[in-house]
Amino acid sequence: MSTTRKRLFIKTYGCQMNVYDSERMKDVLTPLGYESTDTPDGADLVILNTCHIREKAAEKVYSELGRLRPLKEDKAASGGMTIAVAGCVAQAEGAEIMKRAPVVDLVVGPQTYHKLPELIAKAHRAKGEALDTEFEVEDKFDRLGNDRQVEGYSAFVTVQEGCDKFCTFCVVPYTRGAEWSRPVDQIVAEIRALAAKGIREVTLLGQNVNAFHGAPPAGREDEGVWGLGQLVRHIALIGGIERIRFTTSHPRDMDEDLIQAFADTPKLMPYFHLPVQSGSDTILKAMNRQHTAEDYYAIIERLRAVRPDIAISGDMIVGFPGESDADFEATMELVRRINYAACFSFKYSKRPGTPGASMFNQVDEAVKSERLAALQQLLDAQQIAFNESMIGKTLPVLFEKAGRLEGQLHGRSPYLQSVHVDAPAELLGQIAEVKIESASRNALSGQLVGAKRSAA
Ligand code: SAH
Ligand code: SF4
Ligand code: F3S
Repeated sequence: MSTTRKRLFIKTYGCQMNVYDSERMKDVLTPLGYESTDTPDGADLVILNTCHIREKAAEKVYSELGRLRPLKEDKAASGGMTIAVAGCVAQAEGAEIMKRAPVVDLVVGPQTYHKLPELIAKAHRAKGEALDTEFEVEDKFDRLGNDRQVEGYSAFVTVQEGCDKFCTFCVVPYTRGAEWSRPVDQIVAEIRALAAKGIREVTLLGQNVNAFHGAPPAGREDEGVWGLGQLVRHIALIGGIERIRFTTSHPRDMDEDLIQAFADTPKLMPYFHLPVQSGSDTILKAMNRQHTAEDYYAIIERLRAVRPDIAISGDMIVGFPGESDADFEATMELVRRINYAACFSFKYSKRPGTPGASMFNQVDEAVKSERLAALQQLLDAQQIAFNESMIGKTLPVLFEKAGRLEGQLHGRSPYLQSVHVDAPAELLGQIAEVKIESASRNALSGQLVGAKRSAA
């Protein structure tokens, strides 16, 4: 294995799973002598870890490749620059990218990036061979190992990948493949290693994380596959791990055991992301979500009953084909009833190969924009009100890094709100009680209360 120092630049688009994947790609490349840089200029290897979810996200790849071309030319005289496209655009359009963008040396899908070293070697020999978009998720995690380079106190851990739901707007089942869960022991080993490196908070990731059904720990095979509730309780026993989160869940995979985990596991943070996409049953049906707005309310009510301090976030799409004014009003009504702490909202984007793209009743762009603006106004008001409701409360804050101002630290509340506090640097990586004094749309600030604590 060569250990000459080489410069690696990774640009990450899309969801948290891509953030995790980018970190793991770095882990795979470090033994080969690659070190991260924060600019593509002069890099030996540039990886674009791409997202295919909406048209705009996918287009960014080609414009970024355009910007990289002169940098690659400049680097030709000094060792050359290898350009790799990874992630969901690679999976969806790999062969096309190789044809359309000669600047690209290799294409690697989300399930095969553990093979990057071989692919880089192949690309250096003959470009045409360096495309790998097989689905080999099991092999991937076996080969990645647990030796992660981490910074800070919070880390993502993929526990489940892929999706079998086939919502009619969505590319994920095509780019990430079928639902698959990692074995419990493999996840626990990764989290133990993270805890030993100072990680205090883990966010378990999956495209449908609450569909998790992993092989039970060794010696407990008679229990059958474990659900997410069992996994969360088990992770709560790992020394050093003080906070657990998971994302993204689907309403149909919400079982009573997971709801109970919110009640009986204080380390599971009272903040839950549950996308619904629309408040209209007609649109939910056309989206193939296979649940109604009422089913969604029932889940949220149940969660609020067992964990009264829980706050909810979500995702919404406006302008799905066939969405009428009345359907959109049903979405607004659902948002008013749920009262979100935070919620992402998107204009429907036609994706090639999905059933939604060929529906005849597409909604006008101008109508989509109008609806999005109205929805975002309501969601912003809810987010501000939620943040303001923290004023006067005392919240446990996990301190993550130095603040902008001298003597300040930046931390996170249980609800992922940024909190700015005057606090000594030795509180980094610890959880301390903070009395909240002011709030804006994006952040809180307050004062430390009493002596520092080290548990949630
Ligand atoms: N697996 C998750 C997240 C999927 S992608 C889930 O089931 O919810 C994240 C969000 O992007 C989705 O929740 C949806 O709101 C949005 N999204 C997905 N496809 C889209 C499309 N074609 N147009 C607009 N938004 C989309
Ligand atoms: Fe996409 Fe639906 Fe699967 Fe989520 S559940 S990843 S929105 S197909
Ligand atoms: Fe994008 Fe793929 Fe994530 S399409 S949202 S990067 S799963």
